Parts: sequence; structure tokens; C-alpha cells
Amino acid sequence: MTKVFIGVAWPYANGVIHLGHLAGSLLPPDIFRRYNLLKGNEVMMVSGSDQHGTPITLSAEKQGVSPEEVAERFHIINKKAIEDMGIDFSLFTKTHNPHHVEVVHDIFNVLRSKGLLYTKQTMQYFCGHCDRFLPDRYVEGKCPKCGCPNARADQCDECGTTFEVGDLEEGVCIHCQGCPDIRETEHFFLKLSEFQDRLLRYLEHKDGWRPSVKSFTKNWLEGGLKDRPITRDMDWGIPVPLPGWDGKVIYVWFEAVIGYLAASKEYSKQIGKPQLWEQYWKDDDSRHYYFLGKDNIPFHSIIWPAILMGYGGLHLPDEIPANEYLTTKGGKLSKSRGTSIDLQSVLQEYHPDLIRYYLSINMPDHRDSEFSWSDFMTKVNNELVAELGNYYHRVLSFTRKNYGSIPPASVEVMKPVREEIARFSEETACLLGECDFKKALKSVMELARFGNRYFDSVKPWALLKEDRDACGAVLHANLEIVRALAIISHPFLPFSSQTIWEDLGFEGKVLDAGWDGFKRPLPNGQALRDPIPVFRKVDISEDESADLGFSEFRRLELRVGEILSVCDHPDADKLYVMTLDTGEERQVVAGLKSHYTPEQLQGKKVVVVCNLKPAKLRGVESKGMVLAADDEKLGGDSVRLLIPSADLANGSKVDCGMDVNGGKLDYKDFQKVDMKVYNISEGQEELAGVRIDKQSTDAAVVLVKDEGRAVILRSGDVAITVDGALRDGAMVR
Ligand code: MF3
Ligand code: ZN
Repeated sequence: MTKVFIGVAWPYANGVIHLGHLAGSLLPPDIFRRYNLLKGNEVMMVSGSDQHGTPITLSAEKQGVSPEEVAERFHIINKKAIEDMGIDFSLFTKTHNPHHVEVVHDIFNVLRSKGLLYTKQTMQYFCGHCDRFLPDRYVEGKCPKCGCPNARADQCDECGTTFEVGDLEEGVCIHCQGCPDIRETEHFFLKLSEFQDRLLRYLEHKDGWRPSVKSFTKNWLEGGLKDRPITRDMDWGIPVPLPGWDGKVIYVWFEAVIGYLAASKEYSKQIGKPQLWEQYWKDDDSRHYYFLGKDNIPFHSIIWPAILMGYGGLHLPDEIPANEYLTTKGGKLSKSRGTSIDLQSVLQEYHPDLIRYYLSINMPDHRDSEFSWSDFMTKVNNELVAELGNYYHRVLSFTRKNYGSIPPASVEVMKPVREEIARFSEETACLLGECDFKKALKSVMELARFGNRYFDSVKPWALLKEDRDACGAVLHANLEIVRALAIISHPFLPFSSQTIWEDLGFEGKVLDAGWDGFKRPLPNGQALRDPIPVFRKVDISEDESADLGFSEFRRLELRVGEILSVCDHPDADKLYVMTLDTGEERQVVAGLKSHYTPEQLQGKKVVVVCNLKPAKLRGVESKGMVLAADDEKLGGDSVRLLIPSADLANGSKVDCGMDVNGGKLDYKDFQKVDMKVYNISEGQEELAGVRIDKQSTDAAVVLVKDEGRAVILRSGDVAITVDGALRDGAMVR
């Protein structure tokens, strides 16, 4: 029995986690954890929300709320989505947590007392107008190398060049667009240079690491390790535990990795065994695995080991099976690019085992892999349902119908079948032990294929009439295959494997059966439960545009706005130039002149797209768009405004009860969004979980299409309606 520590990269709490996180860093450790538990090992698996740093402050500023609010909100949402996916951590905690802070301060103080931290003056951007230092992500400008106009102060995402302070050309403060100067500021540095030799020696024994992990790490080391600043000029984060350091915090990467140790201690305390963590962290015989995406490699293979070496006496990472990226149409699935597919909405639609299956069989473990809904449908329907699900069901339902319980075995029938089971189980175990998850699942599916072939070859439906005992014996053999499948598929498909376990008449958890549970004789006469197929086929329409439209919708920042003034456009007779209050004042040009008089518009509350790239319409700048629906395509000619409830404050968010991804949007992206008007009858709004404001006379709501289903546009729980009668299906533009 081994003690296995599993650390999982802490997702930033700046947005909802998506399928990329799942395939990249969250699902693999859960597969590995379940496998180890089946093998009888003891496992401690921890992670949590990474709640500090500029990813959080930027997203808070974008949404106009405090960093704490963002960090808490997404912590709760993400923790729930992770649980719903069947990913069971010993502890999934968070970094904005006194317990974590205490452990970080302890490490900080110890490293400092050993001379491994020192202070130094450095240069940093400072915005005179905003009167503050600007962290790297707060300055944007031109890349001196490739000329890309929106490079960040630390890196150009376009060409990958990294910069020192001052390298960026034409840098501006992202808040006020002002030109920052460069000032001196004092920071703590980690003496990374001191660890060069020890890290090289540590890496000598890591031949089995994945090539990408080895090469990333080697590249960093070969360039010679430079000391790194581990504090930042910011307010949001963990304070430096020394007087006179106000306005500076510990760098998010330095403290987040410490979360692995802090969470282990926190968990031990929580379960009333405060020393338990020591058995994992102070024992040479334990094994430490870290699961993460490839962009996190050096922090786990260099920085974290260096911190641990500096502190002393704690177990270093043994394996770092970092994954590549899950991509979609060639790009990385990511929040900032607006191409993420978040877990919440996927879970509303599909059983978690279907998602786990697809992401495992398509796992980006050695190279990037491509995600698409059509491939999801193909693999789920043709493999999971047609092979595994079908096999389970034909064996269980046939036996249950004709025997009711497990029929007696025959030794000759069992021998070759048991050999096959043992062969697949060993192969799967071997691959799982090496974190080769995709191949391991393929091996599970091979056993299901073997089962189907075997069932076909023994023809129980024919045998039943000829020789009931012989038929019982081959069914017994098939049930043993079913049981073995429930066990070895469990790491991947925890929900369905448990159902099958109970269909076989077992009580308790399949997880407690043990990996070798298939070696015990199957109890003759054990009553079978009436089986219901565990997987159902999925049907996803070929119309990919609907799918696309929804991800574009998720990028829209919609807010309630009030029309303050309306005047005619100087050079266009269909356009008005309006001033709106959307929490801030903005000018918008809109083609409403043939449908509304200025008096009708004045003072009206409307729905405004706030994150369109500013555009000039016949020479007049427009910052956003007022939403209206139009039934022209349906043969009508009305254009009616979308209206929120009149008592909503200007600037209130309008969405579908889900979070938006932000960023700036082009008009052509907006055009992909599929929003339509729908007249609902009384009572329907309750079903949809929204209210209709009594002040609005029309019960027509706006639907946003999301892959076959539709969701209602709303602000809070009040539906957005239209200002007048329109036909069902009128398009919003
Ligand atoms: N929050 C980081 C990311 O999402 C990962 C942090 S891993 C940790 O990329 F170990 F530092 F916590
Ligand atoms: Zn500024």
C-alpha cells in the first residue's frame, strides 16, 4: 500500500471552468485517484480556486465588482461543477483563505531567514494619472519585434517574445489610456540561481517524464536560472508579512503552488487528523503526482521544487504528467478567446459519464486534440453506447429476464473467459499506472468488444431452448465480463459503473470492490436488478451555426441603458445619434428613425451591447448598439425595441443567467448570435424560471438559441420583453 499525493493545478476563479480545464488538468487526476483507490492505495488529492493575481482583478474591473466578489462567485460555481462531474477531491479549497495565508507566510519567513529571499529596487510602469503602479497585464502597446499593436507589457501573445519593463513600444495604461512612466519600486526576490545545481540533479532521475515536460524544464534550466521577483505592486493578494510593505502583495504564482501543502494541512485538520499530511509530505516512500496543462510546467518542475528544497524536509514532485491543449477549430479552448465551453451548460445537457468518456478517449495527453460536438456525438454513439452500453444491457436484460438471478458457472466455460478478463485488466492497470489514460480507456473498450463477440458466438438466445444449464453457464461468464468492465471502467465512468454494479445485485460501492475484485467468484443465485440502459444516444443537429451563435452570445456584454438624449444624424436620414446612460455615458448611433420619434425614445430603458468595438457610422462614432427585434424576414415591417423592466438600474447586466466571457466584439461576431422573439402564454414564464414585469404589456420574451434548446434573455430573474407586438421568430439585431 502506497501513499499517493495528487496535486491538481488550481484554476483561476476569474470565470467558469470549461472543457479545456477538464480535459487538461481536472479529469486525469480523478481517473488516477480512482485507479489508486481500487488498487488499495491511500490517496490525498487537493486543489482549489486560485483567487489572487491580475486575472482576477482584470475580470473584476471588467464586471465592475470587487475582486473578492469575483473570486468567491467563481469559486462556488466551479467547485459545484467539479463535483457534478464526479471529480472528488479530498479538499477543493481556495487561496483567499486565512489557513492558506498562514502557510504562505511561514514559507516566506523561513526562506527569508535562510537568506533565500532578498529585496532589490526594480523598475515598474507607473501611471501618473491613475496614481498607481501597473502590473504587467495593465500595460498594452506595440510589440517591438512583430509590430502587433496589442502586446502586453510582459509578453506578446502573437510572436511569443517576452519583455522586460520598457521594451514595449507606445505602452498605455489600460485604464486611462494614458502613457505610463517607469519608476523604481522595491521587491522581494527568490534566489532561484542558488538552486541551479540541485535542480539539475533532481531532474537526472526524471527520465520517465513526458517529453514536453522534460524539454520545457530543460530549456528553462539551460538558460541559467535568474532570481525572480516574488512580490508585486497590488492591493489584491496575500500581504507581505513585514511592516512597511503596504500596497505590495506576494506574487500569485509564488503563493498558489504553496496551496498544495497548505490544502494538505487544512484537509488533515478538517478530518481530525492534524498530522496526516506529514505521512504524505515527510515520507520518502510516498509518491507525488501533479496534474496540469502545459503552460504551468515550469512552475511545478522548477519554482515549486525550489521552494520545497529551500524550505527543506518536504517531498518533491515525482511525476508531472502535464497535458497538451484541447483545441477547437485549430485554436485553444480558452476563456479569453471566447471559445470555451463551460461545464455548467454542458452538464445541463449531458450525463457526466458521456463527457468523461469523450474527453478521455480524446485526451490531449501527448499532443493537442481537437474538440467538436460532431466528434463527441460519433464517439459517444458508436463506441460508448453501441459497444459498452449495449453489451451491458444485452447481458443483464437477457439474464434477468430468463433467470432472474446469477446462474451457476461451469469451470470449462469460465477458464478461457477469465484469462481474457485478466489480460485486459492487467493491460489497463499498466497503462493507468503510467498515466497513459487514453490508451487505458481503449483497452477497457477492447474488453467490451471482446464481450460482444463472445456473447454473439455463444448465442444464448438459441442455447436457452436447447440446454438451459449450458446457457446459464455462458451467461455467468458474460456477467463476469460485465463485472470486470464495471471495475476497470470505473476510473473513467464512475456513475455508470456504480449503476451496473447495483444491477449485478451488489450492495456498496464499486470503488470498494478493489481492482482485482473480478477474481472472486460471482455469487450464484444473487438476484439481478431490472436494468435500464446506462447510456443514451445523443443527437446533436448538424447545424453548427446554432452552436457557434451561442458561444458568440456568451461574449456579449449586455446592459440596461437609459436614453438621455436623441438627435438627428447630420449625414444620414435613417439614423439617430443618442446619448445613453449604461452605468456610464456613451454615444450610440441607431437606425430607429423610421420606427420611433425622438419623444418616444427619450427616457426609455433599453438593452445595449456594451462591448462592441467602437465604429464610425457615416462619420459619427458609435460605442455600442441598442437591441431591437424586427419581423421583416417574416413578412412584417415592425421594428420594436427590447425593453428591460423599468425599475432596473442603468448598467444592470442582461444575460441568460449565465456568465459572459467579455472581451471586445466585432459586429460580424454579433451577427452570428441567434436571438429571436417568442410570445409566451400565461404560466410559461414560471416554467422557465423568469418573471414578466407587470408594467410591460406584451408577454413576448427574447430567446437565445443554444443547441436545440432556447434560454430566455433576462436581467436577474426578470425577462426582457419587446416594446409592442411582433411575430414569433422575429430576429433581434
Ligand atoms: N491558476 C493557474 C492557471 O490557471 C494555475 C495555478 S497552479 C498552482 O493557470 F499550483 F499554482 F496553483
Ligand atoms: Zn492610468
